Amino acid sequence: MCQSTWHDFLRGLPKCEHHVHLEGCLTPDLIFHLASKNSVQLPPTPEYTSIETLTHRYGHFTSLDDFLHFYFIGMSVLQHESDFADLAWAYFQKAHADGVHHAEVFFDPQVHQDRGIAYETIIAGFVAGCQRAEAELGLSTRLILCFVRHLSVESAERTYAKILENGHFESDTVHGLGWSSSEVGPPKDMFREIYASARERGVRLTAHAGEEGDPTYISTALELGARRIDHGIRLVEDEGLMERVVREGILLTVCPLSNVQLKCVKEVKEVPIRKFLDAGVKFSINSDDPAYFGGYILDNYCAVQEAFGLSVAEWRVIAVNSVSESWIEEERKLELLERIEEHVCGFAELV
Ligand code: ADE
Ligand code: ZN
Repeated sequence: MCQSTWHDFLRGLPKCEHHVHLEGCLTPDLIFHLASKNSVQLPPTPEYTSIETLTHRYGHFTSLDDFLHFYFIGMSVLQHESDFADLAWAYFQKAHADGVHHAEVFFDPQVHQDRGIAYETIIAGFVAGCQRAEAELGLSTRLILCFVRHLSVESAERTYAKILENGHFESDTVHGLGWSSSEVGPPKDMFREIYASARERGVRLTAHAGEEGDPTYISTALELGARRIDHGIRLVEDEGLMERVVREGILLTVCPLSNVQLKCVKEVKEVPIRKFLDAGVKFSINSDDPAYFGGYILDNYCAVQEAFGLSVAEWRVIAVNSVSESWIEEERKLELLERIEEHVCGFAELV
């Protein structure tokens, strides 16, 4: 826990979250509750004996793929529109309490469709959760649909066809596209055609890259049209690419506690926060899969403060970049930027 005045400063600092998987907000508690309600059989393995055994296992992930195994089992308990809506609502309440004003949230429809849940059910539930957060908490929200790299390109194409069929780009129901899941293994450019088509339509694009994979995963994502990179911590291994990222104003959505839990780094101190700040790389700080990694967004902010001892001025830069690179209207950006200035002024003497 960071020192109390800093904790107050960080809690009240207006935040934007750009990297959180709604399915990554399924706590062990909720998994067992929904499994029982929906009569979903969890695996007969020791980890799934109880909430406690599952929580214990979550503390011992060995890699991204080891985590994904549990993440995909977890999401199998989501069956009905209301399950998706309740899950999103639970996340937004937590985010609001942590000082989030704007949230861009990922979801993985392919994985649900693969087990027989209709695309329309998933969307209706998550949209209901977003609308409730906007109405009751004053949050602005955006849904970003992620294609997953462990399933086939044909599966992604079926989901892409569903977006088009439902007019979900035009209605802004799906605000942007991303890709996630296993990084190293599948072809780096597997979504080349889909991204080219989405680009032509003017759809916003992001991609998980440079989490476990080397910087060529980042350059491939940029080549395919991504204008934001999720994680991207291995960018520091390629100075030329880092200069390009700075030049083009690409935002990295960094997730420090996730990187530690998935053994991408040994401790938060190894996340290149200081290098990014010094080089002028824009980044936001995010939770990724908070129910699996033992921390929501504020825990990530506090962990960064403990590891790097940043100044108020440096936090202001992080908060301002998070707003300016959000996928929202100018008017909303100005509103959030004003709130940051007000908050920072109130903590001017904090050192
Ligand atoms: N899906 C959910 N969390 C992820 C992560 N950290 N990396 C890649 N895919 C994911
Ligand atoms: Zn992620």
